[in-house]
Amino acid sequence: MRVKDKLYRTVWMEGSTVYIIDQNLLPFDFRIFPSVNYRQTCHAISTMAVRGAGAIGAAAGFAMAQAFLEGKNNRDPAFIGQAKKRIEETRPTAQNLFYATKRVYDAGLLSVEKSVYEAQKIADENVEEGNQIGEYGKLLIHEGFVVLTHCNAGWLGFVDWGTALAPIYKAHWEKKKIFVYVDETRPRGQGARLTAWELHNEGIPHAIIPDNAGAYLMSLGKVDMVIVGADRIASNGDVANKIGTLEKAIVAKEYGIPFYVAAPRSTFDRKASTGSDISIEVRDQDEVIFQTGVDEKNQMTKIRVCSPGSSAFNPAFDITPAKYISGIITEKGIIKPDPESINYLFLDSYL
Ligand code: MRU
Repeated sequence: MRVKDKLYRTVWMEGSTVYIIDQNLLPFDFRIFPSVNYRQTCHAISTMAVRGAGAIGAAAGFAMAQAFLEGKNNRDPAFIGQAKKRIEETRPTAQNLFYATKRVYDAGLLSVEKSVYEAQKIADENVEEGNQIGEYGKLLIHEGFVVLTHCNAGWLGFVDWGTALAPIYKAHWEKKKIFVYVDETRPRGQGARLTAWELHNEGIPHAIIPDNAGAYLMSLGKVDMVIVGADRIASNGDVANKIGTLEKAIVAKEYGIPFYVAAPRSTFDRKASTGSDISIEVRDQDEVIFQTGVDEKNQMTKIRVCSPGSSAFNPAFDITPAKYISGIITEKGIIKPDPESINYLFLDSYL
């Protein structure tokens, strides 16, 4: 994607350095963080300098390759095993992370060069998947549509393009008149900060709404469809996505509004039969209690926004059962639920 007339990917690797657009500074400051070893890349993932299912996957793949490059004799099994474990502990819900570490680890057992090649391949595939998801998804967006999205499943959440936002970009570039409601997505504000920044840069009309405004807008008939991303998808089509997704899905069904999930096939977890098999990350309570933004002098500031003395609970994701989902937009096409059951018809013909 283009930022200030230059094309960027969210995360990329040159030599043994991984370059990361620091999303904790966005939208106030645009800076690239050069991560020189796998531990620094792990830190960038766990502190969410790089975040979003696909971007986490690519960063994790690069971190695994960095570990092979760093390792004593390059392939010291204890060092590499420890590195893999550490990378996989950074964010437990994003399926793409585990998908990437496994692929790069398997390649690295053959040679260090192969590990780097595999990590680059994962990142390149991610770009093309977003592009294809955009192609299929744009067919669902008609002239004059108002789309609601939650969190950030745009190019920042992937290596490029994104998933939920890719169809929106493509519909806009085809000159369809569209409008996007952006859930602010407390506590970290990925919608208010990142999705809004992306849409603004692309000149797509939009408005940030409080997380609790979606139901009201849907009840008024002011939303034509909902598109969200996914962090992990179980075999029965249950979807783990950013906390707050479930409420949107239930409300959309109540008002007969199509609710689509956009995700590449690498987000499907065949080992998870249903959503209850997906582990949900619980993050630090400080993300709820404090907020970070800029003051009138454009200086980054952290302020307390909750009553002192109270604790907070901060689950990062929820599970939306398949029955609330109208379809899953993948890079191979749109998967529809089986009308005979709540299960999806995807399995082998699609995956
Ligand atoms: O905690 P995050 O910001 O890494 O959450 C992941 C997400 O961005 C969303 O849940 C998104 O919809 C998944 S696809 C990027």
